[in-house]
Amino acid sequence: MNDKAKRHLITAALPYANGPIHIGHLAGVYIPADIYARYLRGRGEEVIWVCGSDEHGVPITIKARKEGVTPQAVVDRYHEIIKKSFAELGMSFDIYSRTSSAMHARTASDFFRTLYDKGEFIEQTSEQFFDPEAGIFLADRYITGACPKCGAEGAYGDQCEKCGSTLAATELVNPRSTVSGATPVLRETKHWYLPLDKHEAFLRQWILEEHKEWKTNVYGQCKSWLDAGLQPRAVSRDLDWGIPVPVEGAEGKVLYVWFDAPIGYISATRELTPEWERWWKSPDTRMVHFIGKDNIVFHCIVFPAMLRAHGCDADDSSYILPENVPANEFLNLEGDKISTSRNHAVWLHEYLVDFPGKQDVLRYVLCANAPETKDNDFTWRDFQARANNELVAVLGNFVNRALVLTGKYFEGAVPAAGELTDYDRDTLAELPRLRASLEKHIETYRFREALKDAMDVARLGNKYLADTEPWKVVKTDAKRVETILNVALQITANLAVAIEPFMPFTASKMWAMLGVERLSWDALGRADLLPAGHTVTREPGLLFEKIEDEAVEAQLAKLAATKAANAAAEAAAAAPDPQKPEVTFDEFEKMDIRVGTVLDAALVPKTKKLMKLKIDTGIDTREIVSGIAEHFTPEELIGRQVTVLVNLAPRELKGTLSRGMVLMTENAEGKLTLVTPTEKVNNGAVVR
Ligand code: 2FM
Ligand code: ZN
Repeated sequence: MNDKAKRHLITAALPYANGPIHIGHLAGVYIPADIYARYLRGRGEEVIWVCGSDEHGVPITIKARKEGVTPQAVVDRYHEIIKKSFAELGMSFDIYSRTSSAMHARTASDFFRTLYDKGEFIEQTSEQFFDPEAGIFLADRYITGACPKCGAEGAYGDQCEKCGSTLAATELVNPRSTVSGATPVLRETKHWYLPLDKHEAFLRQWILEEHKEWKTNVYGQCKSWLDAGLQPRAVSRDLDWGIPVPVEGAEGKVLYVWFDAPIGYISATRELTPEWERWWKSPDTRMVHFIGKDNIVFHCIVFPAMLRAHGCDADDSSYILPENVPANEFLNLEGDKISTSRNHAVWLHEYLVDFPGKQDVLRYVLCANAPETKDNDFTWRDFQARANNELVAVLGNFVNRALVLTGKYFEGAVPAAGELTDYDRDTLAELPRLRASLEKHIETYRFREALKDAMDVARLGNKYLADTEPWKVVKTDAKRVETILNVALQITANLAVAIEPFMPFTASKMWAMLGVERLSWDALGRADLLPAGHTVTREPGLLFEKIEDEAVEAQLAKLAATKAANAAAEAAAAAPDPQKPEVTFDEFEKMDIRVGTVLDAALVPKTKKLMKLKIDTGIDTREIVSGIAEHFTPEELIGRQVTVLVNLAPRELKGTLSRGMVLMTENAEGKLTLVTPTEKVNNGAVVR
């Protein structure tokens, strides 16, 4: 850490207010940022942590259009859900603001205007796709068509997910608007561009030379962008939702969401304190942006270029740039990508209802398993195992034993330490060592390791009690037990300090149990935190409860139900097969399709798929072999009326002469279903 730093400005990516927060957001961005902010505050540093909802952008307008409400109604709804769930999880923001605020509009608008007046933008007219039915210009994501590279249907205007090719919307074959289904047309439109190329040399020097300490994933991504050469980026859009471009002749144009969103960090600070410039324009501030890997380019390249382009106002200094941008990779869920649109996620607001009072369990598991260097997987079984084997069995167990034994032997009064043994001294010497390790890890953004250090304090305590066995020693050497429990209680108090950044609710419970006000970070490592004679609770209760199998199974069932619903919806939405070449009426007439009744059905031996059916066709009773055994049991078929192509040339299948074909179609889940008359008719009735 930069020792000269006087204050720390911590930002966490502003979440889009078009959906609630899920565990991927938490593990990647908000939990590490909160740990970092709490740690620095605990150390007595001057800190502000700012965040808020990102309320502009096309997806919000599309959602509003689909729901038939205004974009403001959409963001109002999600802003409340997000803000409330963050607060319940113990996110210790100094401010949680929103980009639809008047302060933000003013700040972002002024920022744009300054750059505009300084001639920092270039104006360019280009042709872009316009949806004539919806009356809007279309972002690339909202144009779909066939991929020019692999031919797959459903490629987007920016990418084909089938073959992975990066595309330009104009390359799509038969492009369609996903908003209205209309064929988009190209229209000329003028926009303002930030010439990133102009800042390339500076960014190369600043990132690649002066910030070699940035995380490898962040540094690597910046290097590839810079090596590829930076291009001008449009900072305006044709849209009716957002901050109007504050120049004449820009009617119907708003600031691009990625231009205004990072300015949201500035407006939130401005809302928080009139001294906002002290934070944003002073070399004494260390700014750290916590983000996910998809935001790296915006925070390391685009926003710094904007800040630099802004430069100095007439009578003040320029904006600072981030000292670090510790971006995380992504968290998957049960082996699949988390997806808001597919509802494959664990939503924070739902977790808080399903697991009341268990905020710290989620904070713990998501930190222990954070995707710091590579994508990681969250599974409910791992959640349960970590909760039960680590929080209950290690942390909770140690604290409970130390307090219960003190209650039992000393009526809750902290006993005085007598002469320490070498083992006592070695144990206590571990505390400052763990503190140093924890600090090093937090300050280098390795929160998983830092959490391990904090938990090692509990492990140390458990081992100490297991090795010193006060419950046995009490029978022979009561004096020695005084020392043992004094040491155990000092470790307990250290533990509360160490875990506070990670598990603030548990730390608070521990302070209450120990009967002390919260201790500052400086207490960590010391063996004199609880004076002899001080009283601790005699009824500590349990810090953590076991997570039962039923709770985990309920969550897994919820995910499975979503998956099934998605599969059904996808099948239903799947494009039907294209029409076959024309046939004449005479050709159709050649087919003899009759209604028949299944008299008997049995699996063809040694096959999985084939079923031998005996069918009364009205003409005769015949055998037909059909590939439906994976979809029906014989009981489901016997007695049913079916439709049969009776004049299909017979063919031998597994030793049976199959005479005809039973007609089928597929239901939404891909299951075969019989084509049957809706009313009972005579066998032999002709289908025409
Ligand atoms: O990726 C996202 O969720 C964006 N809403 C993050 C914005 S971060 C910042 F720049 F505001
Ligand atoms: Zn393709």
